[in-house]
Order: sequence, then structure tokens, then C-alpha cells
Amino acid sequence: MAPSTTSAVILNINGEKHSLSVDHRTTLLDALRERLDLTGTKKGCDQGQCGACTVLIDGRRAVSCLQLAVAADGREITTIEGVAQGDTLHPVQQAFLDLDGFQCGYCTPGQICSALGVIAEHAAGWPSAATDDVRPEAGVPELSAEEIRERMSGNLCRCGAYVSIVQAVARAAKTEEGVA
Ligand code: FES
Ligand code: FES
Repeated sequence: MAPSTTSAVILNINGEKHSLSVDHRTTLLDALRERLDLTGTKKGCDQGQCGACTVLIDGRRAVSCLQLAVAADGREITTIEGVAQGDTLHPVQQAFLDLDGFQCGYCTPGQICSALGVIAEHAAGWPSAATDDVRPEAGVPELSAEEIRERMSGNLCRCGAYVSIVQAVARAAKTEEGVA
């Protein structure tokens, strides 16, 4: 008998468990969009280069077009649909809205999920390629515009809304820290 090419998985998305049978080649992005109707996560390049499909897996950002659905089995996935609290937008969403951090909006779900990851990584003290002093004793670098540009560099915006996106991430980061 030929080996099965499908597996049963449980995808825990935005706090809700979804049981489904997936072909082993199915990406998480396609499972979200085509099987579960969670179309907020966008497909841009489908090869890991644009960031449009960014989601959070166990709190860390990941491009869902390069993640197999079977590898996401049992892990906690957050998509853009799970970012707001009911009718209350997350501070990152509100900042994008207030500061026009988008034009067509196609890249925006990925930008917002990535920004959530950036803010969490920064709060955890992670350095970036733009960090001058990466020694642990140097402490957490300030989340400057340069730091934000570097940390968000995996998310492309074909509308070129980068100036506003950087401002929105900076504002949201301050809100999250309780500074603003
Ligand atoms: S669609 Fe996944 S990185 Fe472009
Ligand atoms: S807002 Fe159009 S691609 Fe970014």
C-alpha cells in the first residue's frame, strides 16, 4: 500500500482549535486561506521574500508560505484576525490607522503581525543587525527608526508606505511600553 500523503492536524489559531486533514505539501498559508477562510493573511510572493503572509507561531513571527501546515500542528498561531480584542483594535493596528501606515493595505496584515513580533523581540532584549553594541551588558537598544527599519526589513510594501509604517511601529512600541 502506498504511504498516505495526508495527515490529520489540529491547528490552534487565535485560540480556536481546527481539526483538518491536509496534504503534506500544504503550506500553513494555504491552509489558512483555502481551508479555513482566514483570508486576512495575504499571499504575495509565495516564496518567503515579501512578508505579506507573516503570522505569529508560538509568539514568534514566521512567513506562513514557508511553513508546512503539518509542522504547525498543535502550535499556537496568531493571524491578523486574532489581533484585536473584539471591537477594540490592538495599539499596533490603531497606530497604523492613525498614522496612515498603508495605502492599498495588501501588505498590512503581515506588517502588523511582524510589528507585534518586533516589539516583543525588542522587549525581550534581542539585538538586530542595526544594533551597535550587542554585548548583553549594553542593555536593550532604543527602538530607533533605524532599528525598526532593520527589524521590519523582511516586510515589503509595494506602495512604499515605509515612512508611515516606521512611525506607526515606533508609536505602538511606546504605547505598549506605557510611555505614550
Ligand atoms: S507570501 Fe510569504 S513571504 Fe511572500
Ligand atoms: S500598503 Fe500597498 S503594499 Fe503596502
